[in-house]
Amino acid sequence: MNIIFLGPPGAGKGTQAQRVVEALNIPQISTGDILRRAIKEQTPTGVKAKSYIDAGKLVPDEVIIDIVKDRLAQDDCKEGYLLDGFPRTVPQAEALDTFATIDKVVELDVADDALVKRISGRRVCLNCGATYHISRLGDRTTCEKCGEPLIQREDDKAETVLNRLSVYHSQTAPLVDFYSAKGNLHKVDGAGDMDAIFAEIMKVLKA
Ligand code: AP5
Ligand code: MG
Repeated sequence: MNIIFLGPPGAGKGTQAQRVVEALNIPQISTGDILRRAIKEQTPTGVKAKSYIDAGKLVPDEVIIDIVKDRLAQDDCKEGYLLDGFPRTVPQAEALDTFATIDKVVELDVADDALVKRISGRRVCLNCGATYHISRLGDRTTCEKCGEPLIQREDDKAETVLNRLSVYHSQTAPLVDFYSAKGNLHKVDGAGDMDAIFAEIMKVLKA
């Protein structure tokens, strides 16, 4: 099954994607994780993307579309994949239609004030992409999955978060109508208990 997770920053796309890909045994393709890795490794893409990400802006469509197209052509995507953070603009969605067929789009819906609270307490592993929240970390400072140090993302500072939210509403939210019109959009309430949200997503995916 080919799945898209759509939702504002902090909606829980990454958190829920990790659970879903484990349950369905498909790869999670997080464009944010791919770009953060490229920045860490100082690849040409990483160098180009850094200033956009740090400012809370989207990287240019042409940069990200080629990355996703190449990634979806890899062998592990043959039985399906979960796109987390792509597409993010209507041109990206239109480009995706030329090289992929999407079965389900899950929109995670969370109010803006809750998003800011979640993001300010987030810690991530830059190595494997695992995501945590300080409220559940205790004194752990390394990743449960791979042992690498946990860090706060550069773009999780308060003022950048507000930019990212505004970019979401102006550039990404139009995708709700785009996929509604195609009839494969499923809205899931992303507020509340993580296990309950996961159960609801699996219900939608299995329907
Ligand atoms: P990206 O990494 O995709 O960031 P984002 O979309 O802003 O989303 P987040 O990762 O911030 O949130 P999330 O929904 O994954 O939430 P999470 O599960 O971590 O993109 C970063 C940047 O890269 C962009 O700004 C852009 O510059 C660039 N980029 C990426 N893709 C691009 C594209 N296609 N085009 C152009 N540019 C692109 O959860 C957040 C926190 O909340 C965590 O701490 C978590 O533990 C906690 N949490 C999760 N669920 C719950 C719950 N139910 N209750 C309480 N806490 C919860
Ligand atoms: Mg994420």
